[in-house]
Amino acid sequence: MSKPLLSEQKNLQHLAIIMDGNGRWAKQRNLPRIAGHNQGVQTVINIVDECARQGIRYLSLFAFSSENWGRPSQEVDALMELLLQFLASQREQMLENGIRLRVIGDRNRLSEAVRRALTAAEVETASGKNLTLVLALSYGGRDEILRATRLLVQQALAEGGDPAAINEQDFESCLDTLGLPAPDLLIRTSGEMRISNFLLWQLAYAELYFTEVLWPDFDAVELQKAIDDYQRRKRRFGLTDDQLDTEPKLQRETTD
Ligand code: FPP
Repeated sequence: MSKPLLSEQKNLQHLAIIMDGNGRWAKQRNLPRIAGHNQGVQTVINIVDECARQGIRYLSLFAFSSENWGRPSQEVDALMELLLQFLASQREQMLENGIRLRVIGDRNRLSEAVRRALTAAEVETASGKNLTLVLALSYGGRDEILRATRLLVQQALAEGGDPAAINEQDFESCLDTLGLPAPDLLIRTSGEMRISNFLLWQLAYAELYFTEVLWPDFDAVELQKAIDDYQRRKRRFGLTDDQLDTEPKLQRETTD
């Protein structure tokens, strides 16, 4: 009998991935770094497909960080070009497979052409019901928190509300990820064991999985290993085992 789909297994609704190791993959082959990014895009296409097939509802990919602007301009330009090609080449596929695109990050730093292509893809795919693909572009967790704080303060000043009444929901409603559930599992490839400013608020209770495999070599088999590992974890959200055994629905309602 075939394995049950993920959506029928322990709740893995939202998977987040730090795609790392493109440069090293290229270096091992004496290729320019961009060849690694190129191969990395192919992995993105395969993993999006596999996640949709498995019934995962949200996939967040760290595609370009606020700090990546500091890379040589040739590499930045090449990454932006790959993004534009990805959007153009995957349009049909996304529409056919019910994939909805959502972008998080500071769009103001992106070029007008990239911003236009992203907005067009978001609008076109808005009715996708299967998988929401969240691309983090020009994204930094601290930057997102700072922008959310500014927004919250602006709102509070305009409305003359009581700062003491601000709660987590109010804060979350000012984050780029408004309306998205928190990630259940974070995967980082290439052996680095850091979060690197990705989804700092949202990853508070995510399970973390690190693999030595470089992103261009990451495939459905490696994804399954991460999922199997996740299935063996016990998520307590700051509660005790006894509490979870007797009242499992407490899990998502409480933090410590
Ligand atoms: C990290 O590898 C990867 C990036 C900074 C970019 C990730 C981008 C892609 C996979 C392609 C573009 C994505 C889309 C969605 C079109 P690295 O360059 O830091 O690798 P290294 O640590 O081995 O040098």
